[in-house]
Amino acid sequence: MAIDYSQKIPNNVNLGDDRTLQRALEQWQPNFIQWWDDVGPDGSTNYDVYLRTATSVDPQGWAHFDYVKMRDYRWGIFLNPGDPARQIHFGDHKGETAWQDVPGEHRANLRRIIVTQGDTEPASVEQQRHLGLTAPSMYDLRNLFQINVEEGRHLWAMVYLLQKFFGRDGREEAGALLERTSGDENNPRILGAFNEKTPDWLAFFMFTYFTDRDGKFQLAALAESAFDPLARTTKFMLTEEAHHMFVGESGVSRVLQRTAQVMNELKSDDPKKVREAGAIDLPTIQRYLNFHYSVTIDLFGADQSSNAATFYSSGLKGRYEEGKRTDDHVLKGQSYKVLEVQGGRLVEKEVPMLNALNEVLRDDFIKDSVAGVGRWNKVLEKAGVPQRLVVPHKAFNRRIGALAGIRMSPEGRVVSEEEWQAHEAEWLPSDADRAFVASLMGRVVEPGKFAHWIAPPAMGINRQPVDFEYVRFG
Ligand SMILES: [Fe+2]
Ligand SMILES: [Fe+2]
Repeated sequence: MAIDYSQKIPNNVNLGDDRTLQRALEQWQPNFIQWWDDVGPDGSTNYDVYLRTATSVDPQGWAHFDYVKMRDYRWGIFLNPGDPARQIHFGDHKGETAWQDVPGEHRANLRRIIVTQGDTEPASVEQQRHLGLTAPSMYDLRNLFQINVEEGRHLWAMVYLLQKFFGRDGREEAGALLERTSGDENNPRILGAFNEKTPDWLAFFMFTYFTDRDGKFQLAALAESAFDPLARTTKFMLTEEAHHMFVGESGVSRVLQRTAQVMNELKSDDPKKVREAGAIDLPTIQRYLNFHYSVTIDLFGADQSSNAATFYSSGLKGRYEEGKRTDDHVLKGQSYKVLEVQGGRLVEKEVPMLNALNEVLRDDFIKDSVAGVGRWNKVLEKAGVPQRLVVPHKAFNRRIGALAGIRMSPEGRVVSEEEWQAHEAEWLPSDADRAFVASLMGRVVEPGKFAHWIAPPAMGINRQPVDFEYVRFG
């Protein structure tokens, strides 16, 4: 019997009136469930999880909480409300009416943008699939699952655009999004950071703080797009992204809280003693931060890029908060500073701004990231611990752009290969660090109980108590 997808898939895009789209989704949906069963959250099929499900985009509907089995989650398709008179507000088409369909000349680029964004969504689910087995609490387990189902919904959002607007090519791309796998040698995910492992919960919190924040900036830039359905889809995705970054920021805060408490009890900052007391020492947390920060800022792409210029000038992708900026929104003849190494030193170089828009977005991301690291340092300050976390220099440990492969200390000093080798274990997580963090990861899932290495949160989810039964194991 045919499934009524217009009922099964909550949506505000009149799915019921579009037979072609329904047929495409009918073919894709079982493959999506198969993907979820194969590489989604490990061993979770029978759990009833207290999850937020979007049933509409208005404030009452988008944060509806109830118990649900994840594979039965109602992955919906939601666009923020549209304005038929909306105008393109940057680039060469500035002042023209926004597009409700894909202009032929921008089809290939738009498809590429949507596929690249779409590819990150299932990738992070794959990267996080084993974390449920070592959750530090039932509260954290629920948050992990919330992120997982919402990344699944983000994939639906991009697949909707591909299937609705890109015909046969779009259907093929939608299929391929379920075929690539994070870290797979033969068919990896498109972007580097999405092929890294997320092996433990400190990595998970750093990932959701930094890498989901990359998502925020990419989505915000696409929310400016002249292609109106993309703008409206990504705007709604941003409302969900905020919770992912909250999980990262509060997760690291709680780790720091416990570490500071242990340091105070021991009256020592000796990493060895902190580790023996079952907490994560600050130098290890700093190294994890260095890793996730540097890998994430590579996601913004090469510092100079003619594609970035094309995407902007043709109206496909704007800048972060484009509408709040006071320049001409065309940017021809303007310049921006990027970094390169000359004679063994980092130097600034002025380049045409249009070509430097990846760097502009990266710098916006850096400002936002640094603010949260400041809030982490407040946790240490409040506990009377003198050490502070810092973000490394943006040239540190880069693999993409003009700074790729240059050996650089976290402070931004060019170093020799020997110096790098001698200090790498102080600057980036070593196998020993990862093994230590892994040794702390044991499953704690009794309501209200927390693993020793992390403090409980200040409050629960959706005003529920911290010891609420967030997951019912079937
Ligand atoms: Fe996402
Ligand atoms: Fe996310």
